[in-house]
Amino acid sequence: MDHHYTFSKLEEIQQNEFIKAAIDRVGAGVVITDPEQEDNPMIYCNQGFKDLTGYESEEILGRNCRFLQGDDTTQVAVEKIRKGMAQDETVTVEIKNYKKDGSPFWNELQIFSVFIEQMGQKYFVGVQKDVTKRREQEELIGHYLSEVKRLSTPIVPLEEGISVLPLVGTLDDERLQQMLESVSHHVKESKDDFLIMDMSAVHSYNEGVHMGIYQMNQLLDLMGTTLVITGIKPSFAIQSTPYADFSDLSLLTYASVKQALYSIR
Ligand SMILES: Cc1cc2nc3c(=O)[nH]c(=O)nc-3n(C[C@H](O)[C@H](O)[C@H](O)COP(=O)(O)O)c2cc1C
Repeated sequence: MDHHYTFSKLEEIQQNEFIKAAIDRVGAGVVITDPEQEDNPMIYCNQGFKDLTGYESEEILGRNCRFLQGDDTTQVAVEKIRKGMAQDETVTVEIKNYKKDGSPFWNELQIFSVFIEQMGQKYFVGVQKDVTKRREQEELIGHYLSEVKRLSTPIVPLEEGISVLPLVGTLDDERLQQMLESVSHHVKESKDDFLIMDMSAVHSYNEGVHMGIYQMNQLLDLMGTTLVITGIKPSFAIQSTPYADFSDLSLLTYASVKQALYSIR
């Protein structure tokens, strides 16, 4: 019996060592905290947590994890953690944290509790992942998207009272909305008599576009500007008829900008 006990104890230790080694190799931080101790300190951290934060075990164990927070950490994120822990729910937040060298990083943090039968108490487990690169890429994409939006509706003043909006690429609902906004803004400032919308380089559009042009026409009418459309491809004209008969509207259409200018003058 004794022998059997020693054997399984050894087995248990081996198993623990194995689990520890495995968790150390996880490409993320893993910590365990003990809520029965004053201020819920960390009692375990894996290698990933040390690599992520730059701290050594002695500087980590015994402290509450909040020491990673700093000036730019939002209270919204901290409050979310507090609330989740109080309600004993798994919390996932992206929180701004700081490494030992002071450099900030975005921490995708997950916290959950586990009840350990043998100890008769619950512990908290935290998993930390550095998502700084992804956040930076998202910010960059956001920046480029707004740049593309801005570039997608270039309104070019041609001469006194006439501007042209050359449309290139795809016309979708979002772009139409953007167009309505920038066109009304432009016309309010310029008080143009004519706005030429050139569609010769539009290669795809959705059904909403016909309605959008109708709306744009109404809007410009109210502002005292005549909408002129050029470069409409035959396929577009055919598809338009069920929505709005362009010839019914006070809408001028020409084959090209050149023709439109010639006629307006
Ligand atoms: C297991 C566990 C891991 C945690 N890991 C982090 C962490 O990596 N970064 C962080 O800013 N907060 C972390 N926290 C949250 C803080 O320790 C603390 O709970 C939070 O700041 C809210 O409490 P407070 O208002 O007392 O600061 C963790 C909490 C637990 C329980």
